[in-house]
Amino acid sequence: MANNSLVSIANLTGEQLKYLLAMGREFEKRPNRKILDGKLVATLFFEPSTRTRLSFETAANRLGARVIGFTDPKVTSSTKGETLKDTIMMVSNYADVIVMRHYLEGAALWASEVSPVPIVNAGDGSNQHPSQTLLDLYTILQTQGRLDNLNICIVGDLKYGRTVHSLIMAMRHFNPKFKFVSPKELPLPEEYKDYCREHHIDFTECEQFDEDIIADADILYMTRVQRERFTDLMEYEKVKDVYILQRKMLGKARENMKILHPLPRVNEIAQDVDDDPHAYYFQQAKNGLYMREAILCNVLGITLDDIVADK
Ligand code: CP
Repeated sequence: MANNSLVSIANLTGEQLKYLLAMGREFEKRPNRKILDGKLVATLFFEPSTRTRLSFETAANRLGARVIGFTDPKVTSSTKGETLKDTIMMVSNYADVIVMRHYLEGAALWASEVSPVPIVNAGDGSNQHPSQTLLDLYTILQTQGRLDNLNICIVGDLKYGRTVHSLIMAMRHFNPKFKFVSPKELPLPEEYKDYCREHHIDFTECEQFDEDIIADADILYMTRVQRERFTDLMEYEKVKDVYILQRKMLGKARENMKILHPLPRVNEIAQDVDDDPHAYYFQQAKNGLYMREAILCNVLGITLDDIVADK
């Protein structure tokens, strides 16, 4: 990579992950600073987003940077046939960093190979969502006091869920035990199971989802069935409500267990769970601000020492 991009969580060592988490902790203490004064952040969203775009833009604004970008590719010259490469080359003339979400797997890597400025992958198809994973790790550490040796139960669309794929790769440094719960139509792809085997990550798979499955989890990571990835919406209709977490299913849960979800939620967590002390998904989303402040600083060459010294 020609620049300091964040394309895949798999590229980061355990030490680099912990370093970014330490930066996030500094921003949780004090989110408003002028450390990116004079910088310009471009947010190019070729797919819809609420949290990722708004938290990156909030992060930029709270650090004194300015923001340009688009939320709908239909209003850009890509509709006239402009290539992704040309779009990136143009925007890099204006911005110091490009945060990009794209529907094609590999789009962020491709952009990083042609871009003179850092690219931050805000999600590329079903492939990766590294900034989500960093806020997931931050939340796991915040709620469990550690990242090592945790039981993590991941439920839902494991085939298309990019947050799942990134989280598995990041956790390889921390000796997790995974339970993968999915309908038979949406299993974890073989490449990620091979990844687990290569990295000696303990995992089991099942279709059953009930209070016994949850009982030994430290983290219950719920996911949405990714409607936008289905070519046949009849297939989506068959699986969309296959798992619904209800409050009455939490009776055997460990006291420390927290329910995470990258959001948006559709039906997979019943509303009555929101008031349960195990629910943590809204706090998790809030952590996105601190970690995205950390990511923007990191790709722009600002260090943890710079942040600690910033008064
Ligand atoms: N978690 C997440 O990526 O949410 P958005 O699609 O709203 O950005």
